[in-house]
Amino acid sequence: MSAGDQIATPRTASYEADPAEVKRVLLLYSGGLDTSVMLKWIQDSYGAEVVCLTVNLGQPGEDYEVIEGKARRLGALEAHVVDAREEFAREYVAPAIRANALYGGGYPLFTALGRPLIAKLAVEYARRSGCDTIAHGCTGKGNDQVRIEATIATLAPELRVIAPVRTWQMGREEEIAYAREHGIPVKGGTETAPYSIDDNLWGRSSEGRWIEDLSHAPEDDVFQLLTRPEDAPDQAEVLELGFEGGVPVSLDSERLELVELLERVGAAGARHGVGIVDHIEDRIVGLKVRDIYEVPAAAILLPAHEELERLVCTIHQNQFKPQLDRQWAFLVYAGLWWEPLRSDLDAYIERVNERVTGTITVKLYKGHARVLTRASPNALYDAALASFSASGGLFSQAAAPGFIELWSLQSRMAWRLHNK
Ligand code: ARG
Repeated sequence: MSAGDQIATPRTASYEADPAEVKRVLLLYSGGLDTSVMLKWIQDSYGAEVVCLTVNLGQPGEDYEVIEGKARRLGALEAHVVDAREEFAREYVAPAIRANALYGGGYPLFTALGRPLIAKLAVEYARRSGCDTIAHGCTGKGNDQVRIEATIATLAPELRVIAPVRTWQMGREEEIAYAREHGIPVKGGTETAPYSIDDNLWGRSSEGRWIEDLSHAPEDDVFQLLTRPEDAPDQAEVLELGFEGGVPVSLDSERLELVELLERVGAAGARHGVGIVDHIEDRIVGLKVRDIYEVPAAAILLPAHEELERLVCTIHQNQFKPQLDRQWAFLVYAGLWWEPLRSDLDAYIERVNERVTGTITVKLYKGHARVLTRASPNALYDAALASFSASGGLFSQAAAPGFIELWSLQSRMAWRLHNK
């Protein structure tokens, strides 16, 4: 069958591929059912060559040799695996820590941070391998399509995009049938649909199944990363986290590369059941959905960073920065990583974080992470000034009533006027 017959669909955006012109496709390949079916389906229905790219962002328990072998067996012209953990940690997670980045009050953005990097690598490999088109496995209902396609259209206006899952109208049953028919191995039981999972070294999300029923409390089998808090050790564990310039650099006085530090802190959090977030979320495409997140590293490092930042900043900086942090998180969530406002915000956020150096200890115990101690050479804190009784030095208690009179002046006038 020629490409035109089976896949002609109206194209809405300028960057969507014309089926007749698709010759070589860079496929973002995870090794799962959707992208494995895509790998065959693109060869069959477009008559195109497929180059596979799999990006390692620290998703636990992945065997990249198996994925690469599977890609080759299913006819990939080339199969590349890139270990991008260091770049991800340094260029994406570190800025998120400096920005205390949470979307909707609870989501530390691990997927949202990973997509622009994955799509940037797709562009690099597509160009290097002479591809005209990039294919990804996102559906038409999620944020990930926005993040990936916005990145490609920004960085590589000459490349085109196809998103077969968005158009092919195969359900899970049909995909499994297609896989069987084309010798694509389907792992696990096929009767019940699995959770939809995405993960990397900054966290893990589950969607689908009972999670879509808001009245359904979390079932234990969704927690594949974390120990349930009920089963966590009775013995608490204290972590000492060293920060320099707003980025964690040491754990229990041992200096570590960021990737290893994130993994070690994440493992400690996971042991103690720290970082369960059951989140109702406003997607960019309008939907409201529920996600179950397991984010042990973020649940420890974000509060620790925020605590240290608050210690070294003035009251005015502490009032101002959360507004920028919130805007930063929203842009990243919304797929606009390459938007100049994001790097404008980073300039301010980095400047503030030059002083965020010091040590925070955090106690992990049965699902909770609590800050115990703080220390920084840049702390705007003077124990002598802060203690209750003493006067002198930079602080005069005698000046307090005068301050109060002036500080409350307009509020007092207004109250009297409005309450006559
Ligand atoms: N709700 C999160 C987000 O929009 C997680 C998405 C997970 N992606 C996935 N393909 N399962 O960033």
